Amino acid sequence: MNSKEKTESTSSKKWMKILIPLVGIGGFGAVAIFGAFFAFIITAWWGQPIPILGFEQTVEQPISFPHTIHASTNQLEHVSENGDPIMGLGMDCTFCHRTVTKQKNAGVPPVALCTTCHSVIGSKDSIALSNVRKAGGIEGNDPQPINWKRVHRMPDHVRFVHEPHIRYLLENPDTIKNTTSGVKEGAAGVCSTCHGDVASMEQVAQVEALKMGQCVDCHRDNGAPTDCAVCHH
Ligand code: HEC
Ligand code: HEC
Ligand code: HEC
Ligand code: HEC
Ligand code: HEC
Repeated sequence: MNSKEKTESTSSKKWMKILIPLVGIGGFGAVAIFGAFFAFIITAWWGQPIPILGFEQTVEQPISFPHTIHASTNQLEHVSENGDPIMGLGMDCTFCHRTVTKQKNAGVPPVALCTTCHSVIGSKDSIALSNVRKAGGIEGNDPQPINWKRVHRMPDHVRFVHEPHIRYLLENPDTIKNTTSGVKEGAAGVCSTCHGDVASMEQVAQVEALKMGQCVDCHRDNGAPTDCAVCHH
């Protein structure tokens, strides 16, 4: 017996050690174990994605931008230096994502929008805000755009348009999925359907799989077209 065969036979012995008692437990035990295992696979596959499977996708941004402080209307988790609770500013999603109700893309705001507030607002010691001011060109340098990284991105062969979705969801509130902390009215109340509760995210993560099945299911349930050419170039 060469050494390779030896390791193979010891490893199969190890398997027998596991399998024999498993079979010995008898029908009920085995069914319960397989049932639990199967349920885990099924939920992982179809249900809410489980973060340990590496699904919740997020990316590091050049400046860490907290949606919590800006978009939430709820009390934030952290407190101020003197211990007072801090409330989110409750800014409307469409204040920054201006084209979402009118166009294909939602749009991410130019740094000039940030500096309308941050040329004066916020701690002078904050590194993030100092970087915002530098990008805005208000620290005596040339302005530079912030290269925000994309979190949600469809493959090139897929076509997605925001405008009709926002319109339809506003007209059919029963179709809205998930909730946005504190935000219930207007266009901002419908984003959660595909993006989850962004207002509660320190860092945006993709929480909905947004796979073809999810798009097609919703189209079928709501009388929207399901021809391949609607979503594919
Ligand atoms: C309407 C005003 C307003 C606008 C517009 C705005 N912010 Fe803010 N932002 C605030 C306020 C108020 C705070 C809380 C400041 C504090 O507590 O020190 C804040 C906090 C922050 C912080 C956290 C600072 C820290 O010390 O951790 C960052 C980073 C930030 N903003 C970035 C941005 C960026 C980037 C934009 C543009 C996309 C932007 N903000 C647009 C008002 C605004
Ligand atoms: C103060 C401006 C501001 C407000 C208000 C705001 N956002 Fe954003 N949002 C940004 C910026 C800047 C980015 C890019 C950086 C990042 O991903 O964190 C972004 C990124 C995103 C992304 C990820 C885009 C991608 O690349 O896939 C989503 C989704 C999003 N926002 C949804 C929302 C929703 C929903 C709301 C309202 C609950 C909201 N935003 C409110 C400024 C804002
Ligand atoms: C029906 C699902 C759906 C809804 C509802 C939806 N989005 Fe999106 N969003 C997507 C998809 C899919 C992408 C990726 C598009 C791509 O890669 O072409 C995306 C991308 C984005 C982006 C990054 C790229 C861009 O378009 O600028 C932002 C920001 C964004 N969404 C914000 C919002 C906001 C704010 C709302 C609510 C007003 C919203 N979305 C509602 C599905 C949705
Ligand atoms: C919440 C349900 C829902 C989800 C999820 C959804 N859609 Fe839609 N979509 C609709 C409805 C409803 C319409 C038709 C709206 C109308 O014009 O009345 C539509 C229309 C469209 C259109 C046609 C736009 C046009 O040119 O008029 C495209 C393209 C599209 N969806 C792509 C997608 C893709 C890609 C996804 C997945 C990433 C997706 N949709 C997810 C409900 C949904
Ligand atoms: C409502 C929108 C929608 C419709 C309708 C649709 N698709 Fe898709 N399709 C998508 C999205 C979104 C993706 C990318 C996400 C994914 O891979 O699931 C995709 C991905 C694909 C892929 C690539 C899968 C892979 O693993 O890379 C193929 C092939 C495909 N679609 C074929 C079709 C065909 C054929 C039809 C018509 C019978 C069709 N699609 C109709 C939204 C749609």
